[in-house]
Amino acid sequence: MSVGQGVESAVEAGGFDEAPLRDLLETYQDQRGALIPLLQGTQAAYGYLPAEAMESIARALREPLSQVFGVATFYAQFRLVPRARNVVRVCHGTACHVSGAPLVSLEIERNLGIGDGENTEDMMFTIENVACLGACGMAPVMMINERTYGKLSPDSAVKAVKEFRAKEEAGNGSGDTSAVPEVEDADGEEA
Ligand code: FES
Repeated sequence: MSVGQGVESAVEAGGFDEAPLRDLLETYQDQRGALIPLLQGTQAAYGYLPAEAMESIARALREPLSQVFGVATFYAQFRLVPRARNVVRVCHGTACHVSGAPLVSLEIERNLGIGDGENTEDMMFTIENVACLGACGMAPVMMINERTYGKLSPDSAVKAVKEFRAKEEAGNGSGDTSAVPEVEDADGEEA
């Protein structure tokens, strides 16, 4: 597959900013096997795969939209809907799994009323179950955006999420993804 000469006609003005996609299509024009890199680049640019972007990619590659959609839905790395403003990543790597991650997940999901990969209605949180977050000594572990919380219990995990929400709603949230990553135990004390 190559993007070829479809770039000019592929990106049309619409309800989303097409500039990042146009750059990507130009970068990958005439390259074979461009579909997956294009989807990865699109997700990096938009945070997910907008329908308009997949339509443009299909036109540029001269592939059926069903083919592009099929690849996007086959790989777990791709999201077809935007993430919420804050992402709760619950580690389900081996160390966390044996230390109680399933119960931590269950309580967070129950509290937020959503499952893995879903957004809360107010778009405050997305939950993502992920593999090892690299803090196995603090298992079980979760991250809210760039901040790491360790030695969690189901209750302390929910408490951390509630406190995060309270800070966000008070207007001084820690949802700042530029924050320096740090590791805290469930009571907020630095490890
Ligand atoms: S397994 Fe969870 S941090 Fe490594």
